[in-house]
This record gives sequence, structure tokens and C-alpha cells, in this order.
Amino acid sequence: MQDLDIRELKLRQLDIQGLKEKSRQMELGIEMEERVRTFSNIMMMYDCAIREVRTKLEVLDSEFSVRYNRNPISSIRSRIKKPASIYNKMKKYGLEINEENVLTGLNDIAGVRVICSFIDDIYMVGSLLATQDDVKVLKVKDYIKNPKPNGYRSYHMIVEVPVFFSRGKTPMHVEVQIRTIAMDFWASLEHQLRYKKNMENVEGHEEISERLLSCAETIAETDRQMQEIKRMIGEFKDLS
Ligand code: GTP
Ligand code: MG
Repeated sequence: MQDLDIRELKLRQLDIQGLKEKSRQMELGIEMEERVRTFSNIMMMYDCAIREVRTKLEVLDSEFSVRYNRNPISSIRSRIKKPASIYNKMKKYGLEINEENVLTGLNDIAGVRVICSFIDDIYMVGSLLATQDDVKVLKVKDYIKNPKPNGYRSYHMIVEVPVFFSRGKTPMHVEVQIRTIAMDFWASLEHQLRYKKNMENVEGHEEISERLLSCAETIAETDRQMQEIKRMIGEFKDLS
């Protein structure tokens, strides 16, 4: 009789432990769900910020196409940084992974790439965007005037735009890269071949770098000539 009581007691104890474990797992599950929801919400906010910036650029392009009968913007691409890349970059910067840091710690979670026809279009689009009174320019890197040693050319801006949500206005950061079709052609291939990869271990990497640099310079010269040809043809007429 006594033996049975002890066994019963042990079983009950096991039951309680099992219940405790279950409730701990449920708490973890709820916490995880909460985190996923917060993260999805932030990604939705960045997606909206991208749409705001894209609309601004599309409006400028449309106005130009009516006014001057030409499009300074050849195409626009955008992307949101992948969760794994966000995580790695925040770790690299020693940032704690939380809502506040994902919203303000990194500037390139939302990225918009604007491909222009001519070099002067890049500066015109950049300045027309910068002078809009709801756009705040936080940082500019002019890799066209100051190309990177590998030959990379592009005009980079970090802008802050307000996005209106049901709970109010949130300033969001967006990285805007503006470049010509030719610069984009070079950068896309160079990215595939080298950027963020461990090129030092590839045999003949020095020659590859030299060739890439030489291609970048040829492309820059072609861009300059195209700009000059445009000037020779004459400025595009204001049709308004
Ligand atoms: P990241 O940490 O790489 O984002 O650089 P950063 O914060 O110092 O900013 P930067 O303006 O220099 O570069 C931002 C982005 O420009 C990169 O993420 C790339 O998309 C592009 N970029 C910069 N340098 C190169 C380059 O040498 N080659 C190519 N293909 N792209 C580049
Ligand atoms: Mg980046």
C-alpha cells in the first residue's frame, strides 16, 4: 500500500514537471511569435519607405518626360536587406538586435537603385530628390567624383523620409544609389565576380583586379563621351 502511494506521488511529480516544461515552451513560443511579428512589422515599414522614395523618383521622371520629351531615369530597382544580412551586419557593428536598432542602427535595410542615362542626370535626380522638403539627406558618398580604388562609380545618398502609419509619422532611412547604365553594367558584374567574396584566395586575383579597373575606366570614358554627344546634339527642349 505504501509502495503504491510513493509510485503515485512520483507520477504526480513527473506530471507537474511535464506541465511546467510545456508552459515554458509555450512562453518561448509566444515570445518568438511576438519577435517575428515585430520584425515583419519593421520590414513592412521599410517596404513602405521604399515605395515613398520610388514614387518621388517616378514623379520626377514623368514630369521630365512630359516637359522635355525624354526620361532621365532609365530604370529603378529596389530591395530589402535579407534577415541574415541584417543580423550579420548588426553583429559586426556590435549592435544589440532589437526594434530600435533595426529601425535606426543600419542605413541600408531599404535600398533603391536608380539607373540614369547620362552622368548629369544623376546629379539632377540627386539634387531634385534632396531639395524636396520632406526629404532629409543624412549622408552623401560621391563615388563618381571620387571613384573607389577598384574603379567603382556611383552616387550614394542616405535619405530620411517620413512614412505615415495609423499610429503616426515615422522617419525611415533609405539608401539611394544613382548610377548610369554603363556604371551599373560594371558594378553588377564586379559584384558577382568579387564584392564581399574572398578574392585574395583566387589565383590571379591581381590581374583580375587590374582588368576590372581598366574596364571601369573605359566605361567612365564612354559615359563622358555620351555626355558630350548629348551636349553636341543640343539641350532637350522644354515643351511646356
Ligand atoms: P556596406 O557596408 O557594404 O553597405 O558599405 P558602406 O556602408 O561603407 O557604404 P557604401 O556607400 O560604401 O556602399 C554601399 C553599397 O554600395 C554596397 O552595399 C554595394 O551595394 C555598393 N558598393 C559599394 N562599393 C562597391 C564596389 O566596390 N563594388 C560594387 N559592385 N558595389 C559596391
Ligand atoms: Mg550595404
